[in-house]
Amino acid sequence: MISDATKARTSPLSAATLARFSKEVAKYPAEQKQSAVMACLSIVQQEQGWVSSEAEAEIAAYLGMPAMAVHEVTTFYNMYNQRPVGKFKLNVCTNLPCQLRDGQKALNHLAAKLGISKGETTADGLFTLQESECLGACADAPVMLVNDRTMCSFMSGDKLDQLIDGLKGVAGGSDSKGVVA
Ligand code: FES
Repeated sequence: MISDATKARTSPLSAATLARFSKEVAKYPAEQKQSAVMACLSIVQQEQGWVSSEAEAEIAAYLGMPAMAVHEVTTFYNMYNQRPVGKFKLNVCTNLPCQLRDGQKALNHLAAKLGISKGETTADGLFTLQESECLGACADAPVMLVNDRTMCSFMSGDKLDQLIDGLKGVAGGSDSKGVVA
């Protein structure tokens, strides 16, 4: 497994990345360019797979805001990856309503199947397993998100097994960085 303490430095932001920032900033009045911070973070994550502290600092400098203010946004939303993640990021809701309907059981099932603990990434780089706050689908518990976009409901052990096996099957067909198309 790859420890959640794994850190890697990302490359400095490219001219192409900064050009994308510019398009986002242009959507706001000049004095409110900081409003583009979430878009800029998303762009970095699309291109690098995660948001490093160095990238946060570069975004902060670009938008003229404190690096800590950018970091506060990164850490508030768990869709932003603060460390490298696997090809498939699995976020299992473990808030109370889901806990009462096998949310923890689903997390434990995935941990056992993948041979990792929450917060870790499999050695092959395919899967990162994380806990999630409420996903707004409590009635469908246990629920989980794949790569921040694909909601999976009523995740019994059998459905979890099918999901993992299916993702393994398609793993060679995409070069996405932390995003399911
Ligand atoms: S508590 Fe899990 S989706 Fe709401």
